[in-house]
Formats: sequence, C-alpha cells, structure tokens
Amino acid sequence: MYRGQEGQWAYYLHRLSGLAIVVYLVDHVQSIGRAAWGREAYNSLVIDTYTGPVYRLGLTLVVGAVLYHMYSGWRVMIIDFWPPGVRYQRQMFYGVWILFLLTYLPWGAYMLRWLWQG
Ligand code: HEM
Repeated sequence: MYRGQEGQWAYYLHRLSGLAIVVYLVDHVQSIGRAAWGREAYNSLVIDTYTGPVYRLGLTLVVGAVLYHMYSGWRVMIIDFWPPGVRYQRQMFYGVWILFLLTYLPWGAYMLRWLWQG
C-alpha cells in the first residue's frame, strides 16, 4: 500500500498523463484526417481554429503531459526491470519532477511566448 504518499501520486499522474495524450492522439488523427476532405476542410480547422489561444494553451499542456509521462515511464521501467529500484521509487519520483521541470519550463515558456510577444 502506498497510503497516499509519493508512489500513489506517481501512479495517478502517470495514468492521467497517459490518458490525456491518448485523448489528444484521437483529436490529432481526426484533424490530420481532414486532409482527405480537401484543402478547405483542412485549413478551416487546422489553420483557422488551431491558431487560437485555447488550442495553443491546450497544446502547451499536451507537451507537458507527454514529457511528464515519458520521464515517469522511465521510472516505472526502472522499477520493473531492476528489482532494487522499488526501494528508490520515492527518490525517482522527485527525479522525474526535476527532469520534467528542467525541460518543461523553458519549452512551455517558448510555446507560450505569444502571450507576451503578441
Ligand atoms: C514517451 C515515451 C513513453 C514512455 C517511456 C511510456 C511509458 C509507459 C509505461 C512504462 C507504462 C506502464 C505503466 C505501468 O505499468 O504502471 C505506460 C502506460 C501508459 N501509457 Fe505510456 N509511455 C510513453 C508514451 C505514451 C504515449 C505517446 C501514449 C499515448 C498516446 C501513452 C499512453 C499510455 C497509457 C494510456 C498508459 C496506461 C496508464 C495506466 O494504465 O495507468 N504513453 N507508459
């Protein structure tokens, strides 16, 4: 039992980030698939809608979910394939957050630069 400690949070966050990127994958496939209906159908969604603030913010969150899920997945795989790893699961949870913040803060800021640059 993790009893609401780091291991429990790691489990929830890994599942949540995994499901979030699956949802985005469905949206992504349908939007790219619009190309089959021609230039007009594709451009009206991808060019007109996806340049708006809601989609831009959402995409920034998707990048965060992918990055977090990737680092968290490494943690799960280390625990799976290296038996002593489970003893360090708490430290690795914090390691995941350090790697995540080190990459996501600059990347997220770059993606959101339109907020202050116009
Ligand atoms: C970027 C590299 C990725 C790594 C290293 C990774 C790693 C993992 C691992 C190790 C698990 C199993 C977790 C467990 O056994 O408890 C997992 C689960 C999962 N992954 Fe990924 N994954 C990656 C990318 C993706 C992508 C691109 C998607 C979706 C498009 C995705 C969706 C999911 C989902 C939905 C689960 C199930 C979560 C759960 O049942 O708790 N993953 N991932």
